[in-house]
Amino acid sequence: MKDKKHLRSSEWFGGKDKMGFVHRSWLRNQGYPDDYFTGKPVIGICNTWSELTPCNGHLRDFAEVVKRGILEAGGFPMEFPVMSLGETIMRPTSMLFRNLASMDTEESIRANPLDGIVLLTGCDKTTPSTVMGACSVDLPTIVVPGGPMLSGRFRGEKIGSGSMNWMIKEKQSVEGFSDADITEAEVCVARSIGHCNTMGTASTMATMVEALGLTLPGFSSIPAVDSRKKLFAQLSGRRIVEMVKEDLKLSKVLTRQAFENAIVTNAAVGGSTNLIIHLTAIAGRIGVDLNLEDFDTLGSKVPLLVNLKPSGKHLMEDFFYAGGLPVVMKELKSKLHADALTVNGKYITENYTGAVCYDDDVIAPIENPIQQNAGIAVLKGNLCENGAVIKPSAASKELMKHTGKAVVFESMEDYHARIDDPGLDIDKNSVIVLKGVGPKGYPGMPEVGNVDLPKKLLLEGITDMVRISDGRMSGTAAGTVILHVSPESTVGGTLALVQNDDLITLDVENRRLHLEVSEEELTKRKTAWTAPKPLADRGYVKMYIDHVEQAHKGADLDFLVGGSGSKVDRDLH
Ligand code: FES
Ligand code: MG
Repeated sequence: MKDKKHLRSSEWFGGKDKMGFVHRSWLRNQGYPDDYFTGKPVIGICNTWSELTPCNGHLRDFAEVVKRGILEAGGFPMEFPVMSLGETIMRPTSMLFRNLASMDTEESIRANPLDGIVLLTGCDKTTPSTVMGACSVDLPTIVVPGGPMLSGRFRGEKIGSGSMNWMIKEKQSVEGFSDADITEAEVCVARSIGHCNTMGTASTMATMVEALGLTLPGFSSIPAVDSRKKLFAQLSGRRIVEMVKEDLKLSKVLTRQAFENAIVTNAAVGGSTNLIIHLTAIAGRIGVDLNLEDFDTLGSKVPLLVNLKPSGKHLMEDFFYAGGLPVVMKELKSKLHADALTVNGKYITENYTGAVCYDDDVIAPIENPIQQNAGIAVLKGNLCENGAVIKPSAASKELMKHTGKAVVFESMEDYHARIDDPGLDIDKNSVIVLKGVGPKGYPGMPEVGNVDLPKKLLLEGITDMVRISDGRMSGTAAGTVILHVSPESTVGGTLALVQNDDLITLDVENRRLHLEVSEEELTKRKTAWTAPKPLADRGYVKMYIDHVEQAHKGADLDFLVGGSGSKVDRDLH
């Protein structure tokens, strides 16, 4: 057990002088007894609850449950809010604010008398933003993932929150979906508290933090409404107090091995391409060297074991009933680094030895996977010198090797204005190229890469085409969609130089994305190219545009990479 005087919080509360008085006295207005200030580990509960983040709407209750566990273990719980990012509401995209929320988390932790941290997370960006911020301080930290919603049912059919969005245009154009149909479907999709119930970005992030070793084992797949979710939240509260005593800091858990485990696990569950951006940014904060190629080298040969939407058939509730992530981790045992430490103090593979699969249609055994080589493929070529990504498990096999004529949209507005124009020269072999949706360009790299197909082709029964952009794609979406093109068009990447009717070749097997235009012609076009005017001249958005890194580096702000530790030398008087 760590000596009481070594608690970080004692630098605030332990003083017998004026400053000790100041730090304790105002907190006394909450009625805390004397012994709360003498050697109890102070645990910050970093809460992303917000009514504007519906996926995290239940986290106020959860904080109370975490507090029970902290109190039982002899800790002093202190809940605090941080900026919460609601995926479905924030404009122009929640991703623009991920780094801002990470700064909020980092500075709130460092500036306060905290010894350990519990991160309450849920909706897509609330997990990476808080983990990134916590990494830059590096205190003992545990994650409480808020859990997925129950499965949606619409007219007898299982539907996923998130995945339904991408069918609306098709349903309206092809099936004559009315306004009343849409209203009915809205409620059916969002059936309970919790985050999206597909293996979309939120479930991917929850899986990621468990695979990194940052949650109690088995926590991430439990639905938000299940009583076991609260049970695990309470146990996490108990555990963080122990972690402070053991000085089990984030940097002891988040080793290169842990990141490799997360990449392998993501491939096996068919997780979102957004993992790449977020995991890279987290690695940057904790000082682990991770690059885009690692996702392909480590992940692309991993078999797909989990049959969940958007690539498959089931939803997170089914995944939980089938045994959840513990089964996947047990199946992956030979592919994981066994010596990665987790927050319960055990090594990762030790945690899952007792897992049992109850439904092999949901979680396949590794000897008989749903698909071989399922992970994310990293493409290179003159169209993406620093890389681009595609999720083969969500793409159409027949388009994985394809050459087609570019149909170029210079911006999202241009796309909306022309995509359904009956006169647009486009057919199923065309390649849709969307510019201006990268980190600096939009700004914030929104999830627009999986743009809807033109109505006239939907009516012909076409359901997929090759689409290329410098943006991201929702984890709940599918299609032959090439994302994260780096450098982005706004900084003058080759993507900026593509013109209508240029030929583009995609060859996923050989990891190639090539614009069939001569070097000479490209140089000519580059000379004539002028950079678009930045979309903000003040405030956070200007700072973001000036400092955001390209997608292949995780789209963090350049000056946020790394950490500053937990030490604060100066006091307020
Ligand atoms: Fe919040 Fe999908 S919108 S998790
Ligand atoms: Mg999303």
